[in-house]
Amino acid sequence: MCPTDDRTEPSATPDRSRRAFVRAAVATGGSAALAACLGGEQSVDAPPGVADPDSLPERQHAWNDTLRTDEDGNVRPPAHHVFLGLSLTRDPDATARETVATALRAVERATARRPDGVLFTLGYTPAYFDRYDAALDAVALPEPDPIVVLAAESDVTVDANDALLHLASDDAATVLAVEEALFGDRERLNGRSPSASLDGVFERTDRRTGFVGPGLPAARQEGLDGVPAGEPVPEAAPFFMGFRSGFRESQATEDRVTIREGPFAGGTTQHFETLELDLEGWFEESTHENRVARLFSPDHAERESVGEYGDRLGTDAGAAAVADEAHDHAREHGIVGHAQKVARAREDGEPALLRRDVNTTDGDVAGLHFVSLQRELAAFTRARRAMVGAEFRRHGVGPRQGNGILRYVRLRRWGSYLVPPRRHRALPRPDPGA
Ligand code: HEM
Repeated sequence: MCPTDDRTEPSATPDRSRRAFVRAAVATGGSAALAACLGGEQSVDAPPGVADPDSLPERQHAWNDTLRTDEDGNVRPPAHHVFLGLSLTRDPDATARETVATALRAVERATARRPDGVLFTLGYTPAYFDRYDAALDAVALPEPDPIVVLAAESDVTVDANDALLHLASDDAATVLAVEEALFGDRERLNGRSPSASLDGVFERTDRRTGFVGPGLPAARQEGLDGVPAGEPVPEAAPFFMGFRSGFRESQATEDRVTIREGPFAGGTTQHFETLELDLEGWFEESTHENRVARLFSPDHAERESVGEYGDRLGTDAGAAAVADEAHDHAREHGIVGHAQKVARAREDGEPALLRRDVNTTDGDVAGLHFVSLQRELAAFTRARRAMVGAEFRRHGVGPRQGNGILRYVRLRRWGSYLVPPRRHRALPRPDPGA
């Protein structure tokens, strides 16, 4: 399917049609079709990268300085995302390490490290480090164990491959082009010829895609599994459940999530899970007021402090202010809010997680790829336990009742990663200083 054949937007202008096509290509991984239709190299027009990639920030996750903010001053994530699960096809020896380092630097030379170019992180699973005799130096990276969530969720896949490459850009065509260049499917990237590819070192064993931003979920809601007729997702909502998220006061800073000591200082840990959403239940079983109570708190619903999609909240979702009332709310209203529950896991009053979650339509199901960065994975586990909120059962508020959004989300995949600092991002040993 080429842009002019785009039957999903029959009256689209060529430009809109091209954008719709590229979005679909990101979701399906149709890179070859994209290259054929858009003329390959000419389709990417990103600002150029840097002559010396070593001048770039040591923290792979240092994205915020490059990102724009919304009208209230909240960080605006890049719009288009590809998450590639990678498995090694050879030993991670010095030659392989050099190949990975060269391939990543080639992307940074070709394309600006910004949302109008490309941002990326490469993280490694516990399974990757297991092949070494040495233990990970000064970082705890436990085996991913979704049991923390719900024993009943039996069909959860744990990410057991070696690495996760997260590519993000405001331009869907750039994300695709970078993926193609990294895996040897494209000879030139933004006018330059990459000198190495990841192809001989890794194979892609899993590919997930996502998007976030006002208008994007609304534009993609039609025809998805679990989405009711009538296009219920508000036009301005950046997320499928119809509200803004990622308010500044509810997010950890990049400093707060950065590992401070040891050879991986400058890195971070990453949790990545995929949830399917039951938007039919979410939009049809409940009123807007009820959704606000479940996502934020019953207090937010009573005061009407959220607005249609979170537009009244500015930079503060007001989650911490109602955290202590969670039990009272459960008893009195039979509902405890998601944000209110999770804010109980803050540390010294400060959020410990930097969330970078995005919507997905992978498999034609509305979902969420939940990405969070934190200095220690234990902080994530605390927050996730707080979200499960098993203690609210004693008020009769179980996962199928008014326990936040649990009734409408279904966990499908779960993984943990170490995102090393830049200097160790290419096939690190667990003890790089040794
Ligand atoms: C469909 C799934 C989810 C939706 C729609 C959602 C939505 C939200 C919203 C609207 C907020 C309000 C504040 C803000 O974002 O700035 C929030 C806060 C938060 N959520 Fe979620 N969330 C989801 C899944 C998760 C998961 C899986 C976790 C994992 C622990 C999580 C952890 C948090 C945390 C830590 C906060 C900040 C609370 C604070 O202010 O300290 N969320 N979420």
